[in-house]
Amino acid sequence: MTWLVEKNRSWAEWAVTRILRVGPVPRHLAVIMDGNRRFARKEHQNTLTGHTRGFHKLTEVLSWCRDLGINEVTAYAFSIENFKRSKQEVDGLMDLAAEKLAELLEEKEKLSKHGVCIRILGNLTLLPERIQRLGAEAVLTTKNNDKCFLNLAIAYTSREEMSTAVGELCRGVSEGQIQGSDISEELLEKCLYTRGTPDPDLLIRTSGEVRLSDFLLWQSGFACMFFTKVLWPELTIWHLFGAIFYYQRHYHTLAEARRESLNVRQRMVEESDIEVCHTKFGEKVTAEHIAAQSLSRTERTDAFLEDLNKRTVSYLKEVCNKCE
Ligand code: FPP
Ligand code: MG
Repeated sequence: MTWLVEKNRSWAEWAVTRILRVGPVPRHLAVIMDGNRRFARKEHQNTLTGHTRGFHKLTEVLSWCRDLGINEVTAYAFSIENFKRSKQEVDGLMDLAAEKLAELLEEKEKLSKHGVCIRILGNLTLLPERIQRLGAEAVLTTKNNDKCFLNLAIAYTSREEMSTAVGELCRGVSEGQIQGSDISEELLEKCLYTRGTPDPDLLIRTSGEVRLSDFLLWQSGFACMFFTKVLWPELTIWHLFGAIFYYQRHYHTLAEARRESLNVRQRMVEESDIEVCHTKFGEKVTAEHIAAQSLSRTERTDAFLEDLNKRTVSYLKEVCNKCE
């Protein structure tokens, strides 16, 4: 089994792919792969077979995305909430993840050739050691690939991600790397597991459930949401076409809302710099004071973020070495 499936498309599939590519295509697709167990029940199969079919569907979706020009996919593979499922199911999912990550590492040359970068989003420490190691190795070996990105959310929830990010900011303040007034939406965002990735443009959830289940809550504020009744393992390229067509119909409204939100964010940072200068210099504040404050804030936050990235890489290296 390969992560990079190459399948021939029918004439009609190619034609629709080409037509959709004329319009705006999401740069980043997020998927909540729901309905694996219902699919298994329907097919009189066991739960794990449903999840395995779900994994195969993910690899198929990745190949459709490559053809469509979607170069980033984030998949909700295992939520922290999923640990509450039966031991048999959790163990089965962990074995599946271990098997697939090991297969992925066997394909690392092919991944490099296609420029595939793998990221794991989530709290690795909650996972069994072998998955921590395989995950860390997959991230480290593919980190310099930059053509397409696959983000696997494993042991992930948005609330845990945000609390971890807030923890990092608090550490930065208490260690004197940044000041309390440096904290902004942008800085918090750069401390999330998704740092460095653009926000998803389109989010698809299968199986008829209409909720986000603690997935990319921060990042999906301006994403186009597409909910479909089809069970994840039964998804076809035509469902994806439908979702992209829906995205194209709403594209302009969403793009405008996103632009407006970025402007508001920028204004908030500028106002915060002015406020800091007012506290320091009172009525004597000048444009130079404000420019200097903006520069020193940027220098502090850049250094803080660089250190955070270094810490993450050394943590991943440590995980690889520890479990060898
Ligand atoms: C949701 O369906 C699916 C999951 C909780 C697991 C998804 C995992 C995979 C597809 C495998 C991924 C593996 C790797 C290595 C990335 P459900 O179990 O909630 O089904 P239901 O809604 O019908 O009960
Ligand atoms: Mg479900």
